Amino acid sequence: MVESFVLNTGAIMPSVGLGTWQIEPEAVCNAIYAAVKSGYRHIDSAVAYRNQKEVGLALKKLFEDGVVKREDLFITSKLWSGNHAPEDVEDDISSALEDLQLDYIDLYLIHGPIRIKKGTMLIPENLIPTDIPATWRAMEKLYESGKARAIGVSNFSCKKVEDLLAIARVTPAVNQVECHPVWQQAKLRKLCLSTGIHLSAYSPLGSPGSPGYCGPSVLSNPIVIYIAEKLQKTPAQVALRWGLQMGQSVLPKSADETRIKENFDIFDWSIPEDFMAKFSGIKQARLLKIEFAVQPQSGYNSLEDLWDGEVEKENGRAECEDHSDFLRCFL
Ligand code: A2P
Repeated sequence: MVESFVLNTGAIMPSVGLGTWQIEPEAVCNAIYAAVKSGYRHIDSAVAYRNQKEVGLALKKLFEDGVVKREDLFITSKLWSGNHAPEDVEDDISSALEDLQLDYIDLYLIHGPIRIKKGTMLIPENLIPTDIPATWRAMEKLYESGKARAIGVSNFSCKKVEDLLAIARVTPAVNQVECHPVWQQAKLRKLCLSTGIHLSAYSPLGSPGSPGYCGPSVLSNPIVIYIAEKLQKTPAQVALRWGLQMGQSVLPKSADETRIKENFDIFDWSIPEDFMAKFSGIKQARLLKIEFAVQPQSGYNSLEDLWDGEVEKENGRAECEDHSDFLRCFL
């Protein structure tokens, strides 16, 4: 039942996708090959992850080896923050299609409500304010052209989703956001459900050890561990299965074949209702705050502004203030 979700376009999105952020270019081919061999049919990529060409090589190999056909896979990519200008959006998807060696993308997302000057690197100095209505018009054209079979957004708060819905001719199919037991996105999930937008969870394991992430661990949360022990599953499996039962797709990242398989072994069991209820006892904290985007030149004057109030203020550690490691992932 939770093996896939139907998007508002009618397309079927497999519920577990392999995330590819921070997987080294030389490792991503093997990770994708192993994932697809293990049953994954959904790959989440982005030019920002600096490994998209290698994702394309993996796909080519899978098709050539006859492991799967193009139509068996659901591939997501994302608009680069420097290409928000309407006249740049088509070139952006063309370059993603070239990298991926595909002639259409199943889902194309505005990577975030964050924009930099065209042709520049993702560093605070290059930020400029977004013009989401103008960018969305160009995204709608991609959808009409068939190059993107569904379009959506990522990192959008409730307010940003509502603002977009007010001008959209094509309702976004997906909002891909940080979501896991420690940041459950209750308000956003409700809004997405009532407006026909599918909520997709990046960092469903809380991205242990990732630069830019700070706050409580998902995998060592006592409630997650308690449920894992009771069900004889791993904390990662419990976190992912919780996501599926909440109605969201999950995009765990791993470059390790054993963990890739473990993260997909979440279909033939479920978390009973009484255990599901226990997740509401977990203290909430957004782990990826993207502080670097709060700059006078971005138009965001505070984290409250960037996330429209949907951010915990209290649990940041001192290291969070140094976002250079996070930005290095994109340079
Ligand atoms: P690795 O690539 O060595 O498996 P998220 O998907 O929330 O962003 O988390 C990704 C991080 O979690 C990566 O560091 C990944 O490391 C690790 N990870 C992935 N799967 C598991 C798992 N089943 N158990 C523990 N850690 C995992």
